[in-house]
Amino acid sequence: MKSILANLRRFTLAALTVVVIFSSFAVFTPTASAETYTIKLGSDKGLLAFEPKKLTVKPGDTIEWKNNKVPPHNVVFDPAKNPAKSADLAKSLSHKKLLMSPGQTETTVIPVDATPGEYTFYCEPHRGAGMVGKLIVEG
Ligand code: CU
Repeated sequence: MKSILANLRRFTLAALTVVVIFSSFAVFTPTASAETYTIKLGSDKGLLAFEPKKLTVKPGDTIEWKNNKVPPHNVVFDPAKNPAKSADLAKSLSHKKLLMSPGQTETTVIPVDATPGEYTFYCEPHRGAGMVGKLIVEG
């Protein structure tokens, strides 16, 4: 039994190493085309949260906001919490209209001239419950 566990542990370590090596390639390999990412509004488990609540993107990438569990939700970028401190930019990234039905989507394209850094967004009805997320825009 002990040796099975030891082998399992060794295998897990090996598998993790492979995952880490491959994901580091994914991070450092430049991609020619823009990516589209999905962020769910409301977790699959029904929590008042964005899923994922932290995402790294590049200028030109697209975020698809997908209404999921426990609506209504919306997406508002904090005018004070973006690198350029730009209220106009925050507004242009936001989708203030409440999404009522699961499956509804909105999209945000990260402008190609977006200042790199951390962008905070939240859901208005559930901000107090902690429904807050972050986009890291890479340079
Ligand atoms: Cu919400």
